[in-house]
Amino acid sequence: MPYNIAVAGKGGTGKTTVASLVIGELVEKELTPVLAVDADPNATLSEALNIDVPSTLGDILAESRDRENIPASMDKRRHIEFQISTALAENSGFDLMVMGRTEGPGCYCSVNDILRSYMDELMPNYEYAVLDNEAGMEHISRRTTRDIDLLLIVSDENPIGVRSAGRIHELVKDLEINVGSTYLVLNRARGDVHPRLQEEIDKLDLDLAGTIPDDKVLVDYNLEQRSLLDLPQDSQARKAVAEMMDELMA
Ligand SMILES: Nc1ncnc2c1ncn2[C@@H]1O[C@H](COP(=O)(O)OP(=O)(O)O)[C@@H](O)[C@H]1O
Ligand SMILES: [Mg+2]
Repeated sequence: MPYNIAVAGKGGTGKTTVASLVIGELVEKELTPVLAVDADPNATLSEALNIDVPSTLGDILAESRDRENIPASMDKRRHIEFQISTALAENSGFDLMVMGRTEGPGCYCSVNDILRSYMDELMPNYEYAVLDNEAGMEHISRRTTRDIDLLLIVSDENPIGVRSAGRIHELVKDLEINVGSTYLVLNRARGDVHPRLQEEIDKLDLDLAGTIPDDKVLVDYNLEQRSLLDLPQDSQARKAVAEMMDELMA
């Protein structure tokens, strides 16, 4: 099974950015192949990486629920498995899968079972998996019980954000997910950790994995819709994530 890295945190704090930079770092270090999973229903990982995704799992599941969309000659399971395989966007060093909106009215049970067993077969092909989540990862636990080796909870640089990260940590503990280790990541930092912020961090049951500076180059890349994987090696955010990963995985 791959080493699973999941990124959680309040919306807008930088989950997708951190997930992108972590993917870039793994590819850079040739810790490949990597499976990148966009598990946020409001999926933007493909945009941050500037990758065209043929279809999302949500699209496929929705379509497959409607039996009329399945060719009569093909057995349902095989058809769905084939569709899922086409949803895997292949890139150098990593594949990207976008979950999209996989929850809806009615029971998706049989289709979800097919997806689950497909994923069980797919996962061992990868060295690492990086999951860009919605805030609290509820989506993942509903889908399947999954082990996470490393959970990064991203916060912005203020006490409200840090407390919110603490609450997400508590929520995740209540889910049926086994998490190896969990860390806080301060994103868009403008210098050293402010003493007031440090006080808030100290109240949490979470260690700080690292701080990622507010990076103007990264903002420009987003604006110009360039892939964050192409950020220059001396980009501040990229350097910070490289250092953080070195320490976490040492
Ligand atoms: N370290 C950073 N430096 C500069 N801008 C950042 C940084 N991290 C995130 N951003 C900006 O913040 C916005 C939200 O980030 P994003 O990663 O999409 O958050 P989330 O996935 O948590 O909703 C993006 O527009 C991104 O450009
Ligand atoms: Mg996001």
